[in-house]
Amino acid sequence: MIDGKKVLFSGMQATGNLTLGNYLGALKNWVTLCDEYECFYSVVDLHSITIRQEPAELRKRARALLTLYIAAGLDPEKNCLYYQSHVSGHCELSWILNCFTYMGELNRMTQFKDKAAKHADNINAGLFTYPVLMAADILLYQADVVPVGKDQLQHLEITRDIAQRFNAIYGDVFAIPEPYVGKTGASIKSLQAPEKKMSKSDENPNASIYLMDDPDTIMRKFRRAVTDSEAQVRYNPEQAGIYNLINIYSACTGKMPEEIEKEFDGKGYGDFKTAVGESVVSVLRPLQERYTDLSKNKDYIDSVIKNNAEKADYYAMKTLRKVQKKVGFPERVR
Ligand code: TYM
Repeated sequence: MIDGKKVLFSGMQATGNLTLGNYLGALKNWVTLCDEYECFYSVVDLHSITIRQEPAELRKRARALLTLYIAAGLDPEKNCLYYQSHVSGHCELSWILNCFTYMGELNRMTQFKDKAAKHADNINAGLFTYPVLMAADILLYQADVVPVGKDQLQHLEITRDIAQRFNAIYGDVFAIPEPYVGKTGASIKSLQAPEKKMSKSDENPNASIYLMDDPDTIMRKFRRAVTDSEAQVRYNPEQAGIYNLINIYSACTGKMPEEIEKEFDGKGYGDFKTAVGESVVSVLRPLQERYTDLSKNKDYIDSVIKNNAEKADYYAMKTLRKVQKKVGFPERVR
């Protein structure tokens, strides 16, 4: 609790171009939560280097992501928006938690298996202990709630296991976080292979809508989206392509899937794809405009980066000092 409010933590990697999946599965839901929760949203640049990065590019993308947080509607006066690498407590707690996490648990993580297969030439220890750093992110702020898309639920489970294990030994040190998954948009799929998630790292640019795509590109990608030969707009998981398009349309318009089925009853896929594309354009356009404006305001962004990192550091240190004491590190004399 901070000032009588429950605490919320989430983060996003600044690696690759953000997709519509990141927006509908995460960012869009975040914006509505700051009245109810004390919110921390990190640009998780420490996680990003588990894959090789070009340094200048990583720095640029991290700043772009922080700017995008604000453009999406996260007010930095009400939400703490900061770079993970600016708060050293993340690494310090991560080390301690490493000593309370089992190799067997980490071996079961599907994201590790996927990434290890994709980057077989660089299966580094950071990639393996990635979920422990994520647990540290969350537990450092005593987060009660963590909004994520479905692909991150396994990491939330291990976070809870680590926290419970630690608490069982040392008393109630950590709050046990609950995942928060949005009703729509929690699992946006590739437009080209709708059984896979829409991913920043997809090699086929037609598979993903990027948040900075212009309207023509968006419409073209939706026209090319893979569907089926049923010729019926039905919310049926077996029609994976159409099912995904309904989820996207639903998340962008607020309409329920049944309503959408009715709206397109007797109409062809062409009409439906156009409507989905237009709904996405109208959601992304204001975001893009605000992003362009904000990017010009260097001093403002710099001040957000500084002030919010200080705030995050304050709360992070409170937990870290408590944990250090619990595990038996000598008291600090300075
Ligand atoms: P990342 O950067 O891969 O994704 C950021 C958020 O976007 C969601 N997401 C999706 N949601 C729906 N459909 C999709 N196709 C889709 N793709 C991505 C993710 O579920 C996530 O919520 N490890 C995390 C970042 C992280 C974190 C944390 C998150 C680090 N520490 C602590 C929560 C709490 C990651 O790589 O997310």
